Amino acid sequence: MYLEELQLRNFRNYDALKIKLNSHFNIFYGNNAQGKTNLLESIYVLGLSKSHLLNLDSNLIKDGTDICKIKGIVKKNKLKTKLEVELKNDQKILKIDDNEIKKITDYINSSINVIIFYPEDLEIIKGSPNNRRNFINLELSQLSDNYLKILTEYNKLLKIRNDYLKKMSKNISIDETYFQIITNYLIDKAIIIYKMRMKFINKINESSNKIYYELTKLSGFNIKYITNISLNSNDDILKDTLLKTYEKNRKKEIKLGATLYGPHRDDLEFYLQDKDLKTYGSQGQKRVAILATKLSEIAIFKQYTNNSPILLLDDVFSELDDIKKNNLVKFISDDIQVIVTTTELKNVNKFSTASIFKIKNGEIIKVKEVDKDGK
Ligand SMILES: Nc1ncnc2c1ncn2[C@@H]1O[C@H](COP(=O)(O)OP(=O)(O)OP(=O)(O)O)[C@@H](O)[C@H]1O
Ligand SMILES: [Mg+2]
Repeated sequence: MYLEELQLRNFRNYDALKIKLNSHFNIFYGNNAQGKTNLLESIYVLGLSKSHLLNLDSNLIKDGTDICKIKGIVKKNKLKTKLEVELKNDQKILKIDDNEIKKITDYINSSINVIIFYPEDLEIIKGSPNNRRNFINLELSQLSDNYLKILTEYNKLLKIRNDYLKKMSKNISIDETYFQIITNYLIDKAIIIYKMRMKFINKINESSNKIYYELTKLSGFNIKYITNISLNSNDDILKDTLLKTYEKNRKKEIKLGATLYGPHRDDLEFYLQDKDLKTYGSQGQKRVAILATKLSEIAIFKQYTNNSPILLLDDVFSELDDIKKNNLVKFISDDIQVIVTTTELKNVNKFSTASIFKIKNGEIIKVKEVDKDGK
């Protein structure tokens, strides 16, 4: 799968833009604040209908204008598909081949799959558990039709259950039968989420260690999936464990007015040779850890969706030493579309077959074109 053409209208600092992309490597270079991150963000929004940066949709619309459009032509198994995301006020219109798609999940599942690496990704390691859950959620939403649906249902049930617990904490009487039904439904969804997350993290661990090694020549990288319920059992036992946990902690949950157990409390830990990178890792080690994680997703995306994702690398070379830069370039010489931004062209001169574009103040000039055969 690759993005053949991108069109922007009033997206952040872009007025009007239309560019053709190469199916392999595309490099966008420019000084700070010219529109490099914005360009990658627009491709992400085209794929997932919202930004990877925790931004309001309205921030994406160019200041002083009220409608923003992102359009793309995607080539997938030799077929061309037109994608369109339009944002105005609080409204979002999604189209595939000019037909409006009402359900966001339907749009996400039929549009492009993207894996993005961007500087703020370090927050996945450094930040709160919420950052890490957000990371898993965004990735799994692209990989499975069902995940986002189940997660949305889980969150709704969680809210209802928490509202009940809050009432109980204020001694307001509640319908106990209904409370039990909600708890049961919540547990059913929780089990599905746990299993999908566990499978995903296991898959990442199958290759991220090797990739980390290829980038740094250090072994022992792995991610631990942390849950507050033991998952080493079959569904029935797991269901029973969750039920018993809720029963046992009922007083505590009522006191706090919140559900304390379940995947909404999940976390991830990143380790290098048994050292937790959150507390022990250098900035560079954290960066490579996230990079290795994201790169290992390429194979997972191919496996789950039968298509290659598009790899977006925002300013990936800064803070990497020359050896790691070279290793990275060698590693991503793969059969997928890669779109890279950089402030320094010398960072990317190892990509001999890339199309090169210069970004200046929301305008893009193609500097070097490369055809499909890399000529
Ligand atoms: N909604 C918007 N309307 C107009 N301009 C915007 C909007 N949102 C962001 N910008 C501007 O877009 C410019 C480019 O931002 P961007 O983050 O893409 O830069 P960059 O090239 O990635 O820079 P850096 O190298 O520092 O990462 C900034 O000056 C920013 O103020
Ligand atoms: Mg940037």
